[in-house]
Amino acid sequence: MNYYESKAKLFILGAQILVDGEDIMVGRDKQDELRGYFMRSDKKNWNNIYGRENERRVLESFLRSNRPIIVKGFRRVGKTSFLYGALTDIYGKDNVIFKKVKRNTSLSDIIEELKQKTDFNKSILVPASYSESKSVGFGLTNLGVNAEGTKSYKAIDDVDKLLSKIRGKFVIVLDEFQRIEDLSEFENFIEDVFKSHGEKIRIILTGSEVSLVEEKLRKFPVKPNYMTLYPLQPDDAVEFIKEGFNQNEYKITEKQAKDFYSKIGGIPGAVIEFAEHIILNSDLSDIDEAIEKAINEVERSIFDYNLDKEFEKIENLFDADPEIAYKPIWHLKWNKWKLSSGEMMKRLSSSEIAKMSLKKLVEYGYIYYDEKTKTYQIFDPLLQKYFEQKLSGGRK
Ligand SMILES: Nc1ncnc2c1ncn2[C@@H]1O[C@H](COP(=O)(O)OP(=O)(O)OP(=O)(O)O)[C@@H](O)[C@H]1O
Ligand SMILES: [Mg+2]
Repeated sequence: MNYYESKAKLFILGAQILVDGEDIMVGRDKQDELRGYFMRSDKKNWNNIYGRENERRVLESFLRSNRPIIVKGFRRVGKTSFLYGALTDIYGKDNVIFKKVKRNTSLSDIIEELKQKTDFNKSILVPASYSESKSVGFGLTNLGVNAEGTKSYKAIDDVDKLLSKIRGKFVIVLDEFQRIEDLSEFENFIEDVFKSHGEKIRIILTGSEVSLVEEKLRKFPVKPNYMTLYPLQPDDAVEFIKEGFNQNEYKITEKQAKDFYSKIGGIPGAVIEFAEHIILNSDLSDIDEAIEKAINEVERSIFDYNLDKEFEKIENLFDADPEIAYKPIWHLKWNKWKLSSGEMMKRLSSSEIAKMSLKKLVEYGYIYYDEKTKTYQIFDPLLQKYFEQKLSGGRK
């Protein structure tokens, strides 16, 4: 049975179950979900998140400061699941508001969730729009100024009561932050949380389109702390692959795991996508054959739908000369994907734009800067393959 046949079978199964009145997604069997590290959900507990210990330490150190935190990284690298797993582990599920925002998400939606999480008296008013309450000041400082009349005065008082009711630390994550169209009320809120409620509230912003997140932050009132997630480092990635397969009763050897890594790399979302094909859809006992099959079926989607779209935006940043965006990558490629920082800077020093491009590529997660060896690297095999094709003109 090939992949499409097995999907067709699942579809029929799903449809039958639906007819029987069960609440199940059409086309997906209930068992069509891997376990442990390979669980597909981006809201899983920390024990199903592989590695990311250093990243967690960085996050925890940032959480000691009042500043908002921005998490960058390209698609499928694990931003959402890392944040969800780590934050719910640190603070408990009740103290984390994890909001995947939509275009029209407003601050009152967030306040509403805060109210529910804190069991705040539901009869009390919450301002319809934050800007309204802002006009008479947020927080205790300006409560004497009652320019908008009793209603908004009370409303501000209520948000403050709400915030003061919160015990311990509370984290608000705005995922897919780039989608928000009207940022002004969020900017005001973030600024006021920073200034007046820093002892209990933290705000974290992330999103799948990192360049757009950045655009939104250009005029941000408070300087945030930034961190970037990269693909899993080679040794970690091999371990992740091995353990993930084993957790799903699909034993693979160290050698097979290494081989898998050399072809698929360590972007967790990509690994899981490939593993799902192999574990759920193949009746092949030969894993090497199964890997080849999965590569043919999945690679295109990882490249086309994830990396291409994001990289296009980086190219657009350099619209005067999009070739500039590739310059640092050219140098890395010539040097087998690794170059010392001194040498890199010497080669790029002729152009300010090329230096900026390097900075952006590091920040967005394409090029990794290793503090220990002071080298710039593209260590991930899948990324290497992607850029190899791009630079040889194979990809536009
Ligand atoms: N360290 C990890 N251990 C186990 N699974 C992971 C890890 N990181 C990510 N994943 C899994 O990989 C997939 C992609 O991760 P996630 O959705 O968190 O990425 P993302 O960066 O938020 O992607 P997008 O930009 O598309 O929103 C998910 O299925 C997630 O569960
Ligand atoms: Mg995400």
